[in-house]
Amino acid sequence: MVDEDELDTPDEFRLDRPAHHDLNFGYGRHECHGRYISRVQIPEAIKQLLKLPGFRRAAGDAGKLEFDGPFPKSMFVEYAA
Ligand code: HEM
Repeated sequence: MVDEDELDTPDEFRLDRPAHHDLNFGYGRHECHGRYISRVQIPEAIKQLLKLPGFRRAAGDAGKLEFDGPFPKSMFVEYAA
């Protein structure tokens, strides 16, 4: 998903990319069986988090997205209780 020969500006977050550029759920014979439910469930779960009062990144380094190799590992958030 960061192939410069295939994508314009691969490092940019863009909402107008064609569906075949999205390989998050794999491709071909072993494409994810959970992709349909996940495309509904994950935005719903994130939406509920974003609606929490005072929802924000944690202060300092904890609030920064940390990677383990190419994979996201952690990003701490906070909200008002
Ligand atoms: C964020 C959520 C998910 C992501 C990013 C994801 C991603 C992937 C990817 C990339 C593959 C392909 C692996 C490969 O090519 O070897 C895969 C396979 C698979 N996923 Fe998911 N998945 C997610 C959620 C789910 C859920 C919720 C289910 C079940 C309810 C599920 C069931 C499967 C199964 C059964 C396969 C194997 C398909 C096969 O080998 O034919 N996944 N997933």
